[in-house]
Amino acid sequence: MGYSSSLLITCFLLLVVVLNVANGKPLVPALFIFGDSVVDSGNNNNLLTFVKANFPPYGRDFKNHTPTGRFCNGKLAIDFIAETLGFTSYQPAYLNLEVKGKNLLNGANFASAASGFFDFIPRMHNTIPFYRQLEYYQECQNKLVEIVGPSKASSIISDAIYIVNDGSSDFRLYAMGARRIGVTSVAPMGCLPILITVFGSHNNECVDRLNNDSIYYNEKLNKTSENLRKTLPDIKLVVFDIYQPLYNLVDSPSDNGFSEVRRGCCGTGLLETAITCNNMSIGTCANASKYVFWDSVHPSEATNKILADSIVVAGIPLIMS
Ligand SMILES: *[C@@H]1O[C@H](CO)[C@@H](O)[C@H](O)[C@H]1NC(C)=O
Ligand SMILES: *[C@@H]1O[C@H](CO)[C@@H](O)[C@H](O)[C@H]1NC(C)=O
Ligand SMILES: *[C@@H]1O[C@H](CO)[C@@H](O)[C@H](O)[C@H]1NC(C)=O
Ligand SMILES: *[C@@H]1O[C@H](CO)[C@@H](O)[C@H](O)[C@H]1NC(C)=O
Repeated sequence: MGYSSSLLITCFLLLVVVLNVANGKPLVPALFIFGDSVVDSGNNNNLLTFVKANFPPYGRDFKNHTPTGRFCNGKLAIDFIAETLGFTSYQPAYLNLEVKGKNLLNGANFASAASGFFDFIPRMHNTIPFYRQLEYYQECQNKLVEIVGPSKASSIISDAIYIVNDGSSDFRLYAMGARRIGVTSVAPMGCLPILITVFGSHNNECVDRLNNDSIYYNEKLNKTSENLRKTLPDIKLVVFDIYQPLYNLVDSPSDNGFSEVRRGCCGTGLLETAITCNNMSIGTCANASKYVFWDSVHPSEATNKILADSIVVAGIPLIMS
């Protein structure tokens, strides 16, 4: 990331902090999150699936060193984003049994690991596919109406920010009242340690063919988003590009203070993820702060911070009224 864009981020973050301190309220009423393991904050904990992360060493750098179901050593990008927007607690995983009533007022997280393309491992049964996440969101809207009444609920729904990692669902969210939507692009899949292990040609480099697939998908995502903006004049829709920032980290790690890109911190870092990354995994690194990847698939907290900064800058148009 260049000097001028880091300066821009710093200025913007300062501005946000000042605004938050000034009125003590988040910049938007709520944040709703849909997607796969990159943004799942624990929905899979309650499902019959082995795609879970609610055991150590997941969460070892999180608040109270607690494994929450996040596929990370610490915070996800959405956690940093929630903080930047001024929320004092993270949007709860909707399927968390303690979640009901008033704690949905700041939004909720519907994401489920193994539901999307970040999780190329064969589609698992028993996780929450996208259409089902939207059904839960519909149920959540009904609960909001019960708690605060139809008019307040409708302003929460239209002023909230929606983060999704499935570009084909924008239109459905729009139909359900969403107006400020950020769609994340696909990561450079060919640079994920597990895919280099499986598909690489022993030269330890990103697999071009897989990255080309990501680029192809992302180009289409840009085009459909552009078309949607033209068709629906009152929508605010931005693409949160995570391809380039993550690729830059892998390509020039030392520019950002990283030293390990080829393996994740957990275990050998070449294959372990979900249940195979556990506290019996041999070789887990002592400190993940210089690792781009936490396990062989998922970014480390340090990487998530950088992705979040880039998303926040791209998301400025969503916040401006
Ligand atoms: C490993 O994690 C389990 C819980 O998943 C815990 O009961 C056990 O004590 C942990 N072992 C070590 C060596 O940390
Ligand atoms: C990936 O795309 C680049 C640029 O279009 C092209 O030069 C390269 O041959 C492609 N690689 C593969 C393996 O498809
Ligand atoms: C999609 O659009 C974003 C934002 O304009 C841009 O940064 C990115 O390079 C584009 N991606 C592709 C694959 O064209
Ligand atoms: C990891 O290392 C960084 C500096 O490299 C340090 O700031 C941080 O406190 C360390 N974390 C742990 C858990 O030791």
